[in-house]
Amino acid sequence: MAKALITSALPYINGVKHLGNFAGSLLPADVHARYRRQISDETLFICATDEHGTPAELAAAEADIDVFDYCSRQHEAQKDIYRRLHLSFDHFGRSSCSRNHALTQHFFHRLDDRGFIEERTIQQVYSPVDGRFLPDRYIVGTCPHCGFGRARGDQCESCTRTLDPIDLVAARSALSGSAALEIRPTRHLFLRQSALVNELEQWLGSRKGWPHLVTSIARKWLSEGLNDRCITRDLSWGVPVPKPGYEGKVFYVWFDAPIAYIAATQEWADVDPERRDWRAWWWKATDVEYIQFLGKDNVPFHAVSFPCTLIGSGEPWKTVDVIKGVNWLTYEGGKFSTSQKRGVFLDRALDLLPADYWRWWLAANAPESSDTDFNFERFAADVNNDLADNFGNLVNRTLQFLAARYDGVIPHGGVPGEAEGRLIVQLDKKLGALRAHHGACALRKAAHEVRSIWSLANAYLAAETPWTAFNKDPVRASVVVRTGINLVALAATVAAPFIPESAGRVLDALGASLMELSWPSARTALARVKAGERINAPPPLFAKLTPEWVDARKRQFAGDLAM
Ligand code: MF3
Ligand code: ZN
Repeated sequence: MAKALITSALPYINGVKHLGNFAGSLLPADVHARYRRQISDETLFICATDEHGTPAELAAAEADIDVFDYCSRQHEAQKDIYRRLHLSFDHFGRSSCSRNHALTQHFFHRLDDRGFIEERTIQQVYSPVDGRFLPDRYIVGTCPHCGFGRARGDQCESCTRTLDPIDLVAARSALSGSAALEIRPTRHLFLRQSALVNELEQWLGSRKGWPHLVTSIARKWLSEGLNDRCITRDLSWGVPVPKPGYEGKVFYVWFDAPIAYIAATQEWADVDPERRDWRAWWWKATDVEYIQFLGKDNVPFHAVSFPCTLIGSGEPWKTVDVIKGVNWLTYEGGKFSTSQKRGVFLDRALDLLPADYWRWWLAANAPESSDTDFNFERFAADVNNDLADNFGNLVNRTLQFLAARYDGVIPHGGVPGEAEGRLIVQLDKKLGALRAHHGACALRKAAHEVRSIWSLANAYLAAETPWTAFNKDPVRASVVVRTGINLVALAATVAAPFIPESAGRVLDALGASLMELSWPSARTALARVKAGERINAPPPLFAKLTPEWVDARKRQFAGDLAM
C-alpha cells in the first residue's frame, strides 16, 4: 500500500475564492486524493487558509475589527464553502495557528544556526503619522502610467503594471491618508538562498515526472541566479521574529505559509495522537509520495523557496516529489480578479448549482496544457452532454427500466455472451488508461476517460436493447439488464472522484457496500451487483441547463464583465 501526501496551495484568507482558484489547486488535489483513497492508498490531504500578511491586516482595518477575529470569520466562511464543494480534506487548518508559529520559528533558528541568515539594512517608507513602516501595498497614489487615482505601491490594479512606491504621484498612506512619508533605514533578515544553489540544483535534478510548465519555471529561476530573499517584514500580523532587535517585526508571509502544510498536519495528528503521527508523513518519510497542487504563479515558492527552507534546515524533512502546477482559468475571455470582483465566486456558484456541476466542468476542462476559458455557453453545453445526456441518462434509463419491468429486482437467468466479452476487453483498456491518467495527475484526460466509459456503457445498452429483448428473448434481456446495472455501478465508481455527491447517490441506491469497493477489473466490476437484489431508482441526477438559463446567467454576471 502506497502512502500519498497531498496538499493544495493554501487559499488566501481574505475573500471568497473564485472558480479559477478552485480549478487551479483545490479541485485537482481533491480529485487526486479521492482517487488515491479509492485504490486503497494511505492518503493524507492537507490544506489551510493562508492568513498572514498585509491584505488580511488591511481588510481587517477597513472592517474595523481585530485581524485575528477577521481571519477566524473568513476561515469559517471558506471552510463551509469547501465542505459544500465536497473537498475531502483530512484537515483544513490555519497558517496563524500556534503550531505554525512554533515551526516557523524553529526553521528560522535552524537556518540561522547553520549560517544561512544574514542581517541587512534596507531603506523603507515610514509614516510618522501612522508610527510605522509601510509595506508597498499600504502606500497609495496616482498611477504614473494610466492616471488611476488609487494605485498601490506594488501594483496598479487598473492597468496591472507593477510599481515601486516611489513611482506613485502624490503618494500617501493607505491607513491614515497622510502624505508626510519618509524614507528610513530598517533592518531585515535575508535567507541566503545563493548559498544553497548547489544543494537545490541537486535536489531539483532528482525530481521526476514534473509537468513541463513547472520544470521550466523552476529552471528559469535557477538559471537567473538565486537571489537572497528578505524573509522579514515591518508588520505586526504574522509570526514574530525571535531575535533581539526584531521586536515588532514578523516573518514574510511566503516564508511561513508553506510551513503551514507541516503545521496543519501536526494539528491533524493532535486530534488523535494515539493513532495519528505527523512524523510518518514529514520526518524521514521516505515511503511517502508527496504531491503539491498549485497554480503556475505559485511554482517558484514551491520549487525553490520552500525547498530552500527545508533543505537549509539540515533536518530530514520530506520534500515534494511532484509539483502539479497548472495554467490559468480565464473568465469570458479575461482574467478572474478577486480585487475587482470579476468572475464567478464560489459562494455564488453554489447558489446557482450543486457542486458536482462545477467540479465536473472544471475537471474536464482543467487548464493543464494551456489556459482555459470559462464561459456560460460552454459550461452549459458540457454539463448537458456529459452529465445529463451521458451519465445521467445511463443511470436513469437502466434503473427506470428495472423498476418498470422487473419491479426493481435484478433478474436471474442466462450467462454473459460475446457482447459482454467484448465489453470487458474494451472496459479493461479504458480502466487501464484511466489509472494511468490519474497516476500522472492528468485531470482533463482522466475526466475524458470517465466520459468515454459512460459512452461505452450507453453504446452497449443501445446495441443490446434489453427493452426489445424483454419480450422476444427474456433470458438474454436478464443478462443485459444485470450487465447494465453493473455498468451503472462502474460508471459511478469511476465518476466518484469528480462528482462525489451524484456518484454516491447512485452507489447508495445500488447498495451502500459498493461504496467501499476500490477499482476492480472489468470482469469483477460487472459481477458486483447480484441477481435478486432490489434497487430503488434515485430521482434524476442532473437538470439540463437551458438557453434561457445561460442568458439569465450572462445578464446576472454582466456587471462583473463590464469592469
Ligand atoms: N495563498 C497563496 C496563493 O493563493 C498560496 C500559498 S501556498 C503556500 O497564491 F504553500 F505557501 F501556503
Ligand atoms: Zn495604472
